[in-house]
Amino acid sequence: MEEKELIRSLNWFYTLEIEQVDLYQTQARATPDIYLRKVLTRVAQVEQEHVINLEAEIRRRGANPTRTGAVIAPLLGVAAGTILNWTDTRTVLWANITLEEKAMADYKRLILKVAEKPLFDLLWSHLIDEDLHTAWFSNKLKELDRLALN
Ligand SMILES: [Fe+2]
Ligand SMILES: [Fe+2]
Repeated sequence: MEEKELIRSLNWFYTLEIEQVDLYQTQARATPDIYLRKVLTRVAQVEQEHVINLEAEIRRRGANPTRTGAVIAPLLGVAAGTILNWTDTRTVLWANITLEEKAMADYKRLILKVAEKPLFDLLWSHLIDEDLHTAWFSNKLKELDRLALN
């Protein structure tokens, strides 16, 4: 993979992770569900670690971390600046599963193109974190569906 293309890709992840930190903090403030608020706050901290890791990797390669423009809004299929109803738990879970799955798919794709360490290990660790986030959000959604059936 060409270095320029790799930096572009890392900057895209860097932007996604920054937007996720912001989004999860916003959702944490909005949700009436206390357990969900704690989870979102903790997940935002993990995404913040991802931001720091990507920042360091981009700098290690002699480039400046640069945001690529709105990432989340188009992934959710809404116009930039759209405010969704984050007091609704299903809306939160739907949005976050969509984003985490996209992040996972893209981390997997990049892992296949990058063999060198430490980047290879970094991408793997992020992928696994996103997988755990997806699992929790999906499980919570299933729980809501079960409760709705009773
Ligand atoms: Fe992340
Ligand atoms: Fe995540």
